[in-house]
Amino acid sequence: MLFCFSFPLSLSSFQRFLLIFLILCILHVDWALTTSVPKKIGKGYRLISIEESPNGGLVGHLQVKEKNNIYGPDIPLLQLYVKLETDSRLRVHITDAKKQRWEVPYNLLPRESPPSLKQTIGRPRKSSYTLAAAEYAGSELIFAYKPDPFSFSVKRKSNGETLFDTASEDSDPYSDLVFKDQYLEISTKLPQDASLYGLGENTQPHGIKLYPNDPYTLYTTDISAINLNADLYGSHPVYMDLRNVEGKASAHGVLLLNSNGMDVFYRGNSLTYKVIGGVFDLYFFSGPSPLAVVDQYTAFIGRPAPMPYWSFGFHQCRWGYHNLSVVEDVVENYKKAKIPLDVIWNDDDHMDGHKDFTLNPTNYPRPKLLAFLEKIHARGMKYIVIIDPGIGVNKSYGVYQRGLANDVFIKYEGKPFLAQVWPGAVNFPDFLNPKTVEWWGDEIRRFHELVPVDGLWIDMNEASNFCNGLCTIPTDRICPNGTGPGWICCLDCKNITKTKWDDPPYKINASGIEAPIGYKTIATSAYHYNGALQGLEGKRPFILSRSTYVGSGRYAAHWTGDNKGTWDDLKYSISTMLNFGIFGVPMVGSDICGFYPAPTEELCNRWIELGAFYPFSRDHANFYSPRQELYQWKSVAISARNALGMRYKLLPYLYTLSYEAHTTGAPIARPLFFTFTNETKLYGLSKQFLLGRSLMVSPVLHRNKTEVKALFPPGSWYNIFDMTKVIVSKESHYLTLDAPLHVINVHLYQNAIIPMQQGGLISKEARMTPFTLLVSFPLGATAGEAKGNLFLDDDELPEMKLGNGYSTYVDFYAMVSEGTVKVWSDVQESKFALEKGWIIEKVTVLGLRGIGSAFEIEVDGNAVGDTSKVEMSLTEHENPEKLEEGGDKMK
Ligand code: GLC
Repeated sequence: MLFCFSFPLSLSSFQRFLLIFLILCILHVDWALTTSVPKKIGKGYRLISIEESPNGGLVGHLQVKEKNNIYGPDIPLLQLYVKLETDSRLRVHITDAKKQRWEVPYNLLPRESPPSLKQTIGRPRKSSYTLAAAEYAGSELIFAYKPDPFSFSVKRKSNGETLFDTASEDSDPYSDLVFKDQYLEISTKLPQDASLYGLGENTQPHGIKLYPNDPYTLYTTDISAINLNADLYGSHPVYMDLRNVEGKASAHGVLLLNSNGMDVFYRGNSLTYKVIGGVFDLYFFSGPSPLAVVDQYTAFIGRPAPMPYWSFGFHQCRWGYHNLSVVEDVVENYKKAKIPLDVIWNDDDHMDGHKDFTLNPTNYPRPKLLAFLEKIHARGMKYIVIIDPGIGVNKSYGVYQRGLANDVFIKYEGKPFLAQVWPGAVNFPDFLNPKTVEWWGDEIRRFHELVPVDGLWIDMNEASNFCNGLCTIPTDRICPNGTGPGWICCLDCKNITKTKWDDPPYKINASGIEAPIGYKTIATSAYHYNGALQGLEGKRPFILSRSTYVGSGRYAAHWTGDNKGTWDDLKYSISTMLNFGIFGVPMVGSDICGFYPAPTEELCNRWIELGAFYPFSRDHANFYSPRQELYQWKSVAISARNALGMRYKLLPYLYTLSYEAHTTGAPIARPLFFTFTNETKLYGLSKQFLLGRSLMVSPVLHRNKTEVKALFPPGSWYNIFDMTKVIVSKESHYLTLDAPLHVINVHLYQNAIIPMQQGGLISKEARMTPFTLLVSFPLGATAGEAKGNLFLDDDELPEMKLGNGYSTYVDFYAMVSEGTVKVWSDVQESKFALEKGWIIEKVTVLGLRGIGSAFEIEVDGNAVGDTSKVEMSLTEHENPEKLEEGGDKMK
């Protein structure tokens, strides 16, 4: 179905996106934690057949060696299916040989189906594979198996490293393969020095590198990011493993595609998955570079969604903008304070009684809201509002009535499952039902006719329920339709009758408190319709989601939920952001200045300095927090103008990174080891990060500090705020940098070319200013090369790609040799850029030999007083024409 009106949200994306969350994040079938897990559960399986599979790869059968009843009876016969799906991807799929089990739906995450169970049982066996140990090799990955007890390993051909090995020794604290209806266990040995990343969503207080014996529990839960080391809003059962053998690094990725709750035990030299349902569907991505791993991973799960240009501008939100005048004031105050602002948001304050798709007639009268939107749209600004999946149960509420009439809600004992969220009593739409998809699309269309919003923010989609179980509506109480959060109406909750799905034998460490499985969500025994998807079209959407699963990056951006206004949370935001880059959700950021409690002025200064370099940059606060817009404090306004001022100059660079993310999965914000992969000192570095390959952000993360200790990999690093300052590092080591209150250290690495513009207060204006190319060579270079790129397009088009007549792509090159600098470009589809009138006004070249008296220089931590002794220079060439030789020019 095609909507032929100008609509800013791609409903297809939106629906598939919600579908994923409401199936994969709600229908986590089971879970559990126990403190006294027996060390070994059973004796594993033995391989009883193995042959070539009809659709390529291998297929075999595994028979349980000795049955027991720990966590339920063993499944006696399993089907094993192994396939080298591409040169860099190996799949190992293990399931019940006789009965279909829950898997991540094949229509939601498209992939090859394993051979059907009937096809493989009892087929005549003709095979070059034997029941003795054997290998199945691709160009880089090798699958090897041992028959009894069955175990398998995955090896890298080029260096012989074993990447994954499920064999268990008697002394190991884990079992051989375990496969029961509600308990699956598999482990791998790891080298002691492996560096692992991923397995979220988790605040990871120990930093980006997985920390031995920290709990990694995956179960989408609304317990807010203040809970350390607990299962948060998203579930991403994937990790990257980075190894360094004699100075040469290689990385690979491992995904367990299973949407059930799970505990992952990482012990430093082994990793064990304990999962409460589904199948083993393991994917190995060979890398060998970290960028290759995310490329291979996102080629499989779906490339990150294209984002509109304006979404890289600054966003202001809060819960508690009680009426429209307050919102109008906020916009005007940003303008007055000359702080950039692209997008203004409403939490549920604009709603009538916290109900989706409604307007509060007193506080947000429609005519006034429309006039306000017309005004800000004319300036190029955007407006986004929240929606929650819980639909208020209310007889006079059209959205609910139409939902009931279309029978769209998730059921429990034959009736819509009654839960409690902000509006009070709610029902949850069942997005597996095609009728729901149609109804939801229609509700969004109706709302868009009411209010021309530019994007949607989906909250509470884990799905969050304030009742542990069912909610009941007492007849003697009426929920106030008003200003406070909905839960103050205190409905009653009632326990559900527990089925095996509500009370699985193995308890995962849910919410970090061994919570029961229905804690703050929909009962796992509730029923979904088993349906399909429908496609709709529109403009390029912007959707922000709190809950995410494998593949969510195809549809949405993510913010890290309810963080605290503390220095610790400022620091944790870096690890979470970097993890989401690895998860294929590169458009990510945390609530700047913290959601609650109120930040100090100093913290808010430091947070905007860091947050200005998050891919997604938004200030958001809790209902009860004092106001924390950036202009509220004079000092914060100065830091904001400075840091956001730089962000707005860098917008073409950020947008080009988002094009790279969309086409190759490359994270926008990356750990330093993505560029400096062999530098082991960087493997745990969680307080600095890179934007793209070359721009390093080193924020202040501590109170009362006016210096920052930052690690500099070898090479020349130019301070982007003051390019006369350069740091030359001979080997990776820490330097102490000046960082007074209004200073954030951001450095550009050598051999880069980054496109910048002149900045502005709104991205639409900033985008039309002339370009500068910033070219960096190693300090004092007499010979060397630099390169960079630029993507430009019409960001309203749903697709972000070349070849549609509305985009241009440029590769820039620079070379210095024998006293001459050459800068040139290779332009694809210049027409669009030419029509828009974009020009490169200036090329700034950093690091040339020659002049240099006015520079502050540090070489390996030592200030060099007499710059004449250092062969360096910074040369600005006002006229790039003189420098150009060969290649096309952009102008
Ligand atoms: C949740 C969200 C938060 C939002 C609040 C009210 O706590 O995480 O961002 O402000 O709900 O809608």
